[in-house]
Formats: sequence, structure tokens, C-alpha cells
Amino acid sequence: MTKLIFKNTYSPLSSEQIVAKEKANMKKKRFEHCVRVSETARKLAKLNGYDEEKAALAGFVHDYAKQVPVEEYRKVIKEQDFDPDLLNWNRAIWHGIVGIFFIERDLKIRDPEILTAVRRHTTGDTKMTTLDKIIFVADFIEPGRDFPGVEEARKVAYASLDEGVGYELQHTLEFLIENKNKVYPRTLEAYNVWGIK
Ligand SMILES: [Fe+2]
Ligand SMILES: [Fe+2]
Repeated sequence: MTKLIFKNTYSPLSSEQIVAKEKANMKKKRFEHCVRVSETARKLAKLNGYDEEKAALAGFVHDYAKQVPVEEYRKVIKEQDFDPDLLNWNRAIWHGIVGIFFIERDLKIRDPEILTAVRRHTTGDTKMTTLDKIIFVADFIEPGRDFPGVEEARKVAYASLDEGVGYELQHTLEFLIENKNKVYPRTLEAYNVWGIK
């Protein structure tokens, strides 16, 4: 695996400490996905004139809380005054929106731009910053992804970050509907902003 390099100026913890905590919080496969998202985020940042170190760190931590136990999520949603409607959803939704609680608590990252990008990385949103888009798209096109259409997604995203977001939202909605899965309303709202021509 490529050596993970990001200059961390966003947490009192060292980069090595962040890497160690993340490694301990998830399975190896997911950890490797996070490394690839970090590298892809760096690439997208470079192409779009964004801070590469910040994008690499945000990409690395985006799934930090994906394997936090369901019961712990339910407890945090109730105790930390998250929208109670979140209790009707699942970890796929929680690990972004509620995941930032664990990133702040464990990794001591408080930078609002990084936290917002993590918060929006699964659902997308009607308003998205450059970093939000970078993390959203990097998660979708990292080299380990192999769904039908991923090559097209990469081509679109490397040519235009905004169109990459639109492509991803369309693909995600199609997938959810085909599989008769519930659609998080914000994802639909995001599609109405980024997905249409
Ligand atoms: Fe995720
Ligand atoms: Fe991910």
C-alpha cells in the first residue's frame, strides 16, 4: 500500500495517532478504502486548486465511524440532540451525519470544513463546498470501486467536479430505486440541484 502522507494541522493529535486510531476502529478492507479515498481526494484537490493536505485528511477520516455499533449511534443521536428522525435511518446515513461526533471526540478534528464534508459525504446536499464535492466524488470513484459505469464516473469527475457530483447522485438514486431502498430526502434534493442539466 502507498505510504499514507497527509500533513495534519487540524488536530492536536499527530498524523500517526490519527492513522492508528482509525486502524483500530475498522476492518482492514475499510481502512484501505479510506487510504484510497484520501489519495483520490488529493488528486481531485490538485485538479481543482484546493488544499491537497486538507482534502487528503478529510478523505482519510470520512468513514471513521462506519463501524461504530448501532446501539452507540442510537445513544449519541438521543443524547447529543441530533434530529430524532435520524433514528428512523441506519448506519449508511448515520456514519456521515452523526459520524462527525466521533471524529470530533476521538480524532479531535474540529475544522468545520472537514466535518461538513464528512457530514455530507453519503447523502450529498443542495449546497456543497469544494471540499464537500471532492470527498463525495472521491468516495465514489476511488480505484477500488468497480461498479458498472465507474469508468464513466471517473472521466466525468476528473473533467468537472460539479458534473461528477451530478453523475454520482443520479447513479445513487437509480441504485436505491432499483433495489427498492428508502431514499434519504436530502439526496433527492441534492439531485434536483446537481443532477439536472
Ligand atoms: Fe461513507
Ligand atoms: Fe467511503
